[in-house]
Amino acid sequence: MADLAADRAAAPASIPALPPLRPLRWDDSPGGPALLLLDQTRLPAEEREIVCTGVPTLIDAIQRLAVRGAPLLGLAGAYGVALAAARGCSVGDAAEQLARARPTAVNLALGVRRAYDAHQAHLAAKPGDLDGASAATLAAARALHREDAAASAAMADHGLALLERLVPGGGHRLLTHCNTGALVSGGEGTALAVALAAHRAGRLRRLWVDETRPLLQGARLTAYEAARAGMPYSLLADNAAGSLLAAGQVDAVLVGADRIAADGSTANKVGSYPLAVLARHHGVPFVVVAPSTTVDPDTADGEAIVVEQRAAHEVAEFAGVQVAPPGATAYNPAFDVTPPGLISAIVTEKGVVSPVDVTGMTRLCAMSRSS
Ligand code: MRU
Repeated sequence: MADLAADRAAAPASIPALPPLRPLRWDDSPGGPALLLLDQTRLPAEEREIVCTGVPTLIDAIQRLAVRGAPLLGLAGAYGVALAAARGCSVGDAAEQLARARPTAVNLALGVRRAYDAHQAHLAAKPGDLDGASAATLAAARALHREDAAASAAMADHGLALLERLVPGGGHRLLTHCNTGALVSGGEGTALAVALAAHRAGRLRRLWVDETRPLLQGARLTAYEAARAGMPYSLLADNAAGSLLAAGQVDAVLVGADRIAADGSTANKVGSYPLAVLARHHGVPFVVVAPSTTVDPDTADGEAIVVEQRAAHEVAEFAGVQVAPPGATAYNPAFDVTPPGLISAIVTEKGVVSPVDVTGMTRLCAMSRSS
């Protein structure tokens, strides 16, 4: 196996001082308020923004995965309610429709609720002050944005410290799935933020990036982020993960989460659960990195998590080109659920839960309530 220096030499060239990615931003220009989304369906070929001047455009972007990933969906939901308020639309209707746009990531409904509550609280204190309520709603969305950025940084610190304990000495060879970086967050993300912290600390030997069929969030988005950051990364087809682990080439598997139930069961991009099984078989830590906002104490266990089912054409196609016979049916869940017993640790901004069990999760939820 190539040594650390050789791996570094093989790293894709870094592009210095690229501006930070801004997957979502509020635009207050004179044409009226709008929410601008970096269209993730076009990456990496094209960096183009979608201008949302109304909630229907935002909902369409959420459902097409132009804006995606649990923490960013929370921000999109909150700013979406702010957009409805700023444009004089029904905030109640907008909140209801946005919260239902995708079912699995708990952050979406949570972000919507936070902004909606700010709107209602303002109107309760100052009935009829719609401008003030609109400003309070936008302030709530911006506060969530800042908190998410801060959570990213804290997760990166906790995650790197955990890696150093789990895999002492040498550089880390990390396998990740889907996309969990700056494209899903107000900051640098979740699992990918930990890998980035390892890279900056000179401790990342290789980032193994699952392509993540069917929509290729790994090949299109994680590879794009890794290349921008100059990380040493290699892509693999999802079904190559088994032989990679069997060859002893992975020190830890790092993934994000869309919803973590009260018992620690974790829904994440489909393909995460098989990685957890493989990791256990090969004695490799399987680590979930997610903000505490992704933990849903009202979802008791994995069975209670609603897994989004998506259209068959996503599987029947490869990168938009039909590869299966016309009319092929498909099983296409967007997520799968990993039971707590297969998860070595859950890293949040509040700290690390390990072992992952009801006691650890209850302690984490109590910490979240008290802060
Ligand atoms: O369907 P997507 O692309 O929204 O799925 C995203 C994931 O599964 C991510 O791994 C998850 O949201 C965690 S991102 C911090």
